[in-house]
Amino acid sequence: MRVLVIGGGGREHALVWKIRQSPRVAHVMCAPGNAGIARDAECVPIRADAVGALCDFAARERIDLTVVGPEAPLVAGIADAFRARGLRVFGPTAAASRLEGSKAWCHAFMERHGIPCASSRTVRDEAAARAAVREFGIPAVIKASGLAAGKGAIVCRTAGEVDAALARMFARREFGAAADEVIVEEFMDGEEASCLALADGAAFAALPSSQDHKRLRDGDEGPNTGGMGAYAPAPVLDARMQARVDADILAPVIKGMAEEGAPYTGILYAGLMIDARGPRVVEFNCRFGDPETQAVLPLLASDLVEHMLAATEGRLAAERVRVAPGAAVCVVAASGGYPDAYRTGAPIAGLDRVPPGVLVFHAGTVERDGAIVTSGGRVLGVTAAGPDIRAAVDRAYAGIAAISFEGMHCRTDIAARALARSR
Ligand code: AMP
Ligand code: GLY
Repeated sequence: MRVLVIGGGGREHALVWKIRQSPRVAHVMCAPGNAGIARDAECVPIRADAVGALCDFAARERIDLTVVGPEAPLVAGIADAFRARGLRVFGPTAAASRLEGSKAWCHAFMERHGIPCASSRTVRDEAAARAAVREFGIPAVIKASGLAAGKGAIVCRTAGEVDAALARMFARREFGAAADEVIVEEFMDGEEASCLALADGAAFAALPSSQDHKRLRDGDEGPNTGGMGAYAPAPVLDARMQARVDADILAPVIKGMAEEGAPYTGILYAGLMIDARGPRVVEFNCRFGDPETQAVLPLLASDLVEHMLAATEGRLAAERVRVAPGAAVCVVAASGGYPDAYRTGAPIAGLDRVPPGVLVFHAGTVERDGAIVTSGGRVLGVTAAGPDIRAAVDRAYAGIAAISFEGMHCRTDIAARALARSR
């Protein structure tokens, strides 16, 4: 089989790494990829949002399976475009991707189907937003409904933060059309976890649970980022809690989407808040998580390509997801300044000195004059699996210790919650 992966970050490097292990796969291509992906796949310089060009390319290159990494092309309808051309694609249609693409639509959907989540109001102006904040009290969460590259959710802990968030949404229109509709949500307390599930329109199969670290600094301090690290499995999402996620969230979502004429195929990412009452939905994404995927895939013992083929053919119910024992940890090495303005072009040293067994997934790198240099905010996802969470953490940080570039920084406490529980 010839497989095309769309995207060029750490998530896509992990996907390429896993996909090329499948005995069914002869050739892997990636558009546009990055300097690390180029060692594992043939990279082609087509942007991930160039839907027409990607369709033409897949048809011309006789690609048997296309796997879409990022949300923007999915929300824009890349899966529909591929299917219309008779091309096999793993990812939801535009209609199904509304679970991520419109938080307003998603909340209404969850209400229609009784899916546990925060109480919310969808508003179109500041006065209505303020009324909703009064209703729910502070802290409140204010979110742009549309895609905002992970930056559109603001947790407001004071009245001043509410004013600032509303100004960004309405007066300054920082989020543009993504904030034409704004969601005001009740604040949920608890521990967050991510659940990635394969779906074929009717059946679903959860992959190992995971936990992301969105804040910049140790102890979950500092601004939100795209994710500074992840680990899997997440002890908070144990077998009992996962059974509730399956029954109360995944099953009704998959059934509800089918009933509403938008059957969901691909990866359904459920961002969850878990407390004594059980799991509630924070958000859905219509794709693999980044950096969760980097920690989840090393624990997947079965063939991801088989699962994806089954998902696109409606045969997922007969598949068995096999999970390796142990744990995996991904520590992100970021550029100086990230998540604000950061410098690129710094040469990366030590990539050939990481201990055996450490996986270095590239997120923002490019090759220049034979050297690998930084090209993004998140640069590398240094990943390791081990027999337990302690071993995985130690191995991943041994990998981090071998690598350096000017301005490099990372969190030193990835998986701290799981370590505390294991003590
Ligand atoms: P989202 O983009 O919807 O995933 O939100 C980004 C982050 O904001 C989440 O990972 C949570 O940490 C936080 N968050 C979002 N909604 C809520 C909520 N209703 N209660 C508490 N925290 C939230
Ligand atoms: N790790 C969060 C996300 O992929 O959206």
